[in-house]
Amino acid sequence: MATICVVNHSITGTTSRLAESVLEGLDSVEGCAGRLLAIEGADIVDGRYGNEAVLHALDGCDAMIFGCPTFMGGPSAQFKAFADASSDRWETQRWEGKLCAGFTVGSSPSGDQLATLQYFTVLGAQHGMLWVGIDIPGGRDPDGRNRLGAQLGLVSQSNGTLVPEVDLDTARYLGARVARKARVLAARERDA
Ligand SMILES: Cc1cc2nc3c(=O)[nH]c(=O)nc-3n(C[C@H](O)[C@H](O)[C@H](O)COP(=O)(O)O)c2cc1C
Repeated sequence: MATICVVNHSITGTTSRLAESVLEGLDSVEGCAGRLLAIEGADIVDGRYGNEAVLHALDGCDAMIFGCPTFMGGPSAQFKAFADASSDRWETQRWEGKLCAGFTVGSSPSGDQLATLQYFTVLGAQHGMLWVGIDIPGGRDPDGRNRLGAQLGLVSQSNGTLVPEVDLDTARYLGARVARKARVLAARERDA
């Protein structure tokens, strides 16, 4: 069984709606179990993220999918506090070889969401993890998924609390893709 964690931060609920759809995609793949982990602002005290249970859950997974809103052209401060708290894992490269992927949302169609995804890739690289993007070329999907065309991960845009259904479909697609890759990886490690 491959385990995949969707670790996300959301204030008004759009990122968490995407996270739930990513989870649906993960759970649609046989032999995979998904788990949602919410980054809560209350777990940050004096600027330091301190929820060890979340970090511990990530220690045991095969893949993790990062999600947070784009705030001022980058990841939310709460997500960054969580990332900073992973530095002891970085010291020992404890997450080396796991898969990672990501998604974000902003209120503008091109509101610098890519910078948030790029931050996620750097975080993954610092941990020695392997990034999984989206293999849907923009404008080429008959169902319209990946409508904004980023292939590094899922970029969504929402003007309120509603997330376009096609973005939720893209989130399911990303979850299923990561799950299939994680299942292969977990089987290889089991047989090694
Ligand atoms: C402080 C702040 C900064 C924001 N900066 C951006 C931005 O740079 N680009 C963008 O497209 N949207 C920006 N937004 C809009 C949010 O990304 C958007 O409302 C998002 O859906 C919120 O996610 P959540 O519902 O998961 O909290 C910003 C919102 C806030 C409150």
